[in-house]
Amino acid sequence: MKKVSYPILLVFITVLVFGILACKHELLFDPGPEIPPTPATNACSPDTSYYINDVKPIIISNCAMAGCHDNITAADGIRLTTYNYIMSTVRAGDASRSKLYKSIIKTNDERMPPAPMPALTAAQKLLIKKWIDQGAKNNYCVGRCDSTVFTFAGAIKPLMDNKCVGCHNPSNLGGNIDLSAYTGIKTVALNGKLLGSIKQQAGYSPMPPGGNKLSDCEITQVTKWITNGTLNN
Ligand code: HEC
Repeated sequence: MKKVSYPILLVFITVLVFGILACKHELLFDPGPEIPPTPATNACSPDTSYYINDVKPIIISNCAMAGCHDNITAADGIRLTTYNYIMSTVRAGDASRSKLYKSIIKTNDERMPPAPMPALTAAQKLLIKKWIDQGAKNNYCVGRCDSTVFTFAGAIKPLMDNKCVGCHNPSNLGGNIDLSAYTGIKTVALNGKLLGSIKQQAGYSPMPPGGNKLSDCEITQVTKWITNGTLNN
């Protein structure tokens, strides 16, 4: 058997220890200055959960609304209106040790959003978990939205669920509008308020509020869905 040389072993151990320390350091994420998102040319990967596309809309419409974790109320001293604020409740790389994730999966009266607000759906919880476990990056991607071939169930409903329903459900009826099911969505589609608000036209309240305008592709989808007869397909 070949003898292992001690200096080489020593170098190996040193590198290993520093490597582990470096990893630990990365896990203790410091919410420093706002990190610019990755370029828009970043094509969507089906295995990735993106902050801008997936996570931010869920948090804006289920946590950061008036009376909860907006900048004014800051319930429990927590604001969830920006990436940096959100990161103060997240341990990048470890959802199970992140306050944000732990609070949404609770089943007792500490669950967020609190009852009578509906809990996040299993799909929404998974998106947040995946995003944190994948490093909680300030990332986004393009190409997921298809404004040519789409259905109500495949595009319009998930769009409403992720970006609107937190503020427009029977327990939280923003503007007395319920977007949690087809009928309610159809009502505002037909009275003109849906397009007026998402296109942010004069005379309508801009939706979603707080400078979180939908993408051009999403607005085209909603427009076409209405022009084509607001089908429940
Ligand atoms: C953070 C909470 C919040 C989110 C997210 C949100 N809304 Fe609203 N929305 C409200 C509130 C509160 C009102 C009533 C007060 C007002 O008009 O500003 C309202 C009003 C509206 C109105 C009536 C507008 C008008 O001018 O009469 C429509 C339509 C609407 N929302 C649609 C949407 C759609 C579609 C989305 C998602 C793309 C959305 N909202 C996301 C809180 C929200």
